[in-house]
Amino acid sequence: MSGPGCIEGVPRHVAIIMDGNGRWATQRGQPRSAGHRQGVEALRRTVRAAAEMGIGVLTLYSFSSENWSRPQSEIRFLLELLRRFIRTDVAELHRANVRIMVIGDREGLDPAIRAMFEEAEALTRENTALKLVIAFNYGSRQEITRAVQLIARKVAEGKIDPADITPAVIGNHLDTGGLPEPDLLIRTGGEQRLSNYLLWQCAYTEFVFMPDYWPEFGAEHLRRAVEAYRMRDRRFGGLKAQTA
Ligand code: FPP
Repeated sequence: MSGPGCIEGVPRHVAIIMDGNGRWATQRGQPRSAGHRQGVEALRRTVRAAAEMGIGVLTLYSFSSENWSRPQSEIRFLLELLRRFIRTDVAELHRANVRIMVIGDREGLDPAIRAMFEEAEALTRENTALKLVIAFNYGSRQEITRAVQLIARKVAEGKIDPADITPAVIGNHLDTGGLPEPDLLIRTGGEQRLSNYLLWQCAYTEFVFMPDYWPEFGAEHLRRAVEAYRMRDRRFGGLKAQTA
C-alpha cells in the first residue's frame, strides 16, 4: 500500500466528486462527451497516484442516482465509458493488487452492467493494495433508506432489538459497511456542496474544494489536497490533543 511517492500522514480514505467535465469541454468548444473522455484519463492518473501515495481507499462518484435526468445521449455515453473502463482497465488494476468495489443501487440496473461489476469485484476480491470504490447509481439518501429498510426487516424478523440499533449498526448496513469513513473529500469544478454523496459517512470528513475542472486533475492536485488535509486540526467534536 506504499510506494515511492508515499507521504507521511496520508488519509486512509479519500472520496472524490469528479465535477466539471462538461464545463471543461464547453470552454474548449468541444462536446461534453470530450470532457467525460478526458475525465476517464484523470481518473486513471488519480488511481495511480493514490496507490503510490499509500491511500487505502479511493471512492469516486462516477454516476449519481440523479444523473439519470441528463439527456439520454449523455447517459449512454457515460455508461459506455464505464463499460470500456472496466473492460480495459480491470486486468491492469488486478495486476496492481487493486481491489474494485461498487456502491450504489444495483436494483433495476441493466443485467450486463451488474454482471460486469460482479465480475470485477470477484476477480479482485483478495487484493490488498488500494481499494477503488466506484459509486454508480449512487445517492446517499437512497443508500440510507435501503439500510433502514434492511434493519427494519431484521427487527420484524426478531433478529435485531431496536434498542441495539447504534450508529455503528446503521453504518454497517450502508453500502460502505466495513470501510473506514472518508478522511478527506475532494470536489473539483468550483462547486461547494455534497450533492447527495456519502452524507452519513462524511460526519467528520475534511473537505477540500478545488476550482480546477476534473479533466485537469492529476497526481499534483491530489498531493495538494492531501497537503491541505494534513494542515487541518481534526478534533472530532473534542478538544485539541494536549502536547505538554
Ligand atoms: C461531472 O461532470 C462528472 C460526471 C457526472 C461523471 C463523472 C464521470 C467520469 C469522470 C467518467 C466516467 C467514469 C468512469 C468510472 C469510467 P459534469 O458533467 O457534471 O460537468 P459540469 O458540471 O461541468 O457540467
